[in-house]
Order: sequence, then C-alpha cells, then structure tokens
Amino acid sequence: MQTLKNLLTQIQEVGDLKDLETLRLQVLGKKGVLTQEFSALKKLEGKEKTQKAQELNTFKEAFVRVHASKKKELQDLELEAKLRAQAIDPTLANSTLGSSLGHPLSYTKDRIITYFTQQGFKLHVGTLVEEERYNFDMLNMPGYHPARDMQDTFYFKDHKLLRTHTSPTQIHAMQTQKPPIKMIGVGPTFRRDYDTTHTPMFSQVEGLVVDHAQKVHFGHLKQVLEDFLHDFFGGVKVRWRSSFFPFTEPSAEVDISCVFCAQEGCKVCKHTGWLEVLGAGCVHPAVFKHAGLENVSGYAFGLGIERLTMLTCGINDLRSLFETDLRLLEGF
Ligand code: PHE
Repeated sequence: MQTLKNLLTQIQEVGDLKDLETLRLQVLGKKGVLTQEFSALKKLEGKEKTQKAQELNTFKEAFVRVHASKKKELQDLELEAKLRAQAIDPTLANSTLGSSLGHPLSYTKDRIITYFTQQGFKLHVGTLVEEERYNFDMLNMPGYHPARDMQDTFYFKDHKLLRTHTSPTQIHAMQTQKPPIKMIGVGPTFRRDYDTTHTPMFSQVEGLVVDHAQKVHFGHLKQVLEDFLHDFFGGVKVRWRSSFFPFTEPSAEVDISCVFCAQEGCKVCKHTGWLEVLGAGCVHPAVFKHAGLENVSGYAFGLGIERLTMLTCGINDLRSLFETDLRLLEGF
C-alpha cells in the first residue's frame, strides 16, 4: 500500500502530458501495479479480501481523480504556452521589412510635385466626382464630340461622373483665380480601360499657366517641359509631334528618346526609338470663353504618373503597380 500512496505523490510531480500517460499506464494499464493488485485479490479470502478490495477501490478512485485534475492542469499549461508562442507583439520593431522609398507611384508623384512647386506652380487636387460639363463641355468637348468615346467612364445622377482626366482642374483654377495663374492639378482619374499599359484608375499631373494676352506662348511651354524632362530623365533627347486635343490649339505630343535601348530599337519603344510621355498645347480660345476669361493667353500640359513610373522603374505591366505584392515592391 505504501507504493500506491507514493504514486499519488508522484503524479502531483509529473511535468508533462507524456509522463502523465506513462504513469497512468504503470498504474492502471494491463500490467499496471493496481491491475496486478486487483488480480492478487484472488489469493485472499474472507475479511482480509474485503478489506484489501476496499482499500484498492479507494485508492483507484483517488488516483483517477488526481489524474484527471493533473491532466486538465497540464493541458491548460500547454495551451497557454502555445498561445504565448503565437502572440504578436505590435510594439516590436519590424525586422523583416527593410526601409524603402515607399511605393514607386507615390515616389514618382512626389518627385513631379516637388519639381513643379519649386518652379512656382500652385498645387490643386480637385474633385474625383466631377460635373460632366467641367470634364467635357467646358474643355471644348460637347456631347457629340468623338473624343468623348476614348474617355468612357462611370456616370452618376445629375450629370456627374468620375473624372477622366485632370484637365477639369484647369477650369476650376481659371474660375477661382485671376491671371497670372500657374498651377498643377494632381490626382486619380478614371477610364474604361484595362490592359498591360492601362488601368481603370490612373493618376495624372495637369499643368496650366495663364497670363495676360500675348504674355504666354508655345515657346514658354516648350522650355518648361524640356527642362522638366531633362531633370526627370537625365540626358534624353526630346521630340515634339503635332497632335490634337479639343482643349488646346496648337496641340502637341512630346516624346523622349527611348530610355531602355538608347534608340537602338526595342519592344518598349516598338522599335521607333521614341517614347511618348506628355500631351500639351496652348489653351484653346473656346476654353477661355467657357471659363469666363478674356484677353488672356496660356498653355497646358498633362502627363501620366503611371507611365513615367513604368519608364523609370522598368515595369512592363502597369497592373503590377496596383497589386500589393511585396516581392515586386522590394525590388525598387
Ligand atoms: N487631358 C489630356 C489627356 O488626358 C492630356 C492633356 C492635358 C493634353 C493638357 C493637353 C493639355 O489625354
């Protein structure tokens, strides 16, 4: 009986569930101490047998009870240790994410904004839900104008829409400020487009300069944009091509020499040696009229932040910029 009592002390000292199970088998298993004691009862008789049987049953009850509570105690401890090991300490310094410049798009946007604000351009953000007339009509694109077709977007009630370009910021600036005006409008724009070089949401930078009649001309526009492109891309060649925008006259598109192949010819420049980066022109008289300005002159330009990011970061699928894949972002 002394060994059985010892077992009750021993079970209290067990430190883990595996040892507890070993001990249980030592006592209650087929060849366990208690099992053997019970079968030894056969050899006893009468009062002695009854007394021994009672003692064994009392011990068995005690052992089972202590075993159950010990098991519960060890299971609780194990769960607690597991939870503690999985716990996240939000106050810990992050060692897996290195420092970075942020997202390539924000970096490019900040670079462009910094450049133009240092040249004296005032920053406008404008509204993303725009009135149809600001987005189209007042920019010389009436309802029947085919240019609207390329800029299909999401329409709301009351002739409101998701703006398709930042050019409406030109009208807002002209309506709220007196010339001389020198502003950039920056932010998201929306079109029904989706392929490797177009996403339904993309960002533009708009530039507008307005001053009294004949004070601003195409030569100023040329100087401002060439200075910007040389600052942004380094030693590239710049080419001006005549183009059409309903809200500028004359209009031009601006190309730079291919930054990938030094004009040897590659897939990105489609073997032309040139990459289109900007749209620009002198403000169309009809636009001044819609904005309520007379005897003024001005120029405007627009560029895509994603396009410039793709060119500076060597990205060939624009959509990858909008996927939150850290492996891609870490590459910059
Ligand atoms: N808004 C034009 C576009 O989205 C770009 C542009 C802006 C062209 C200003 C000329 C002047 O394509």
